[in-house]
Amino acid sequence: MDNMAAIIAPSLLSADFLHLQRDIDMLNGSLADWIHLDVMDGVFVPNISMGFPVMEQLARQTVKPLDTHLMIVEPHKFITRFRDIGVQLLTVHYEACTDLTGTIAQIREAGMKVGVSIKPDTPVEVLTDVLPAVDLVLVMSVNPGFGGQKFMPEAVERVRRLRQMIDSQGLNILIEVDGGINLKNAPDMLRAGVNVLVAGDTIFKADNPAEKIKEFKTL
Ligand code: DX5
Ligand code: ZN
Repeated sequence: MDNMAAIIAPSLLSADFLHLQRDIDMLNGSLADWIHLDVMDGVFVPNISMGFPVMEQLARQTVKPLDTHLMIVEPHKFITRFRDIGVQLLTVHYEACTDLTGTIAQIREAGMKVGVSIKPDTPVEVLTDVLPAVDLVLVMSVNPGFGGQKFMPEAVERVRRLRQMIDSQGLNILIEVDGGINLKNAPDMLRAGVNVLVAGDTIFKADNPAEKIKEFKTL
């Protein structure tokens, strides 16, 4: 196993939206590396999360990179808006893009790092040709749309295959896993080749979220 600590990205979707400042202060002062921001449109996924009025405000308060996970159709329409609020890493879904190569190029031209995400039913092999153009692949370990769902164990094998694909092309790409991650399943994900762990409920429902983040960092 890689001995480098994983990048930990707590998902704000599980935060207390009436006390966002408090939860952001906690994250700012914690060992979290990134803050994971889930954007849902009610079309690509059967849920709506937060819009720009909220995201603009919280982007001003966070001191960690915003790892932004777009679960929206036509993500190309919003690329510069995310850049303008300070997002450094923008991830779009493979299944949501009509012109994935063009969307990836636009994100890069806007000056951000690029991620591409796949839902649990999408074979990792569909990404073979786009890998050289991205910085990160986000492998969903639940069907996107809601926090607090049960981890799908097939994600382990999917990550393993993806890591082989990346290595065989000699690329340097981060693999992120998102959905139902806890301290029990995270070690398997890391062994399979994951670099970035997203966790929502496991962190925010803990008695001491900052301490939980620290436990993830020591895996
Ligand atoms: C699900 C989101 C996830 C979710 C993770 O569609 O993309 O980021 O908030 O939350 P947990 O860790 O609770 O599954
Ligand atoms: Zn997410």
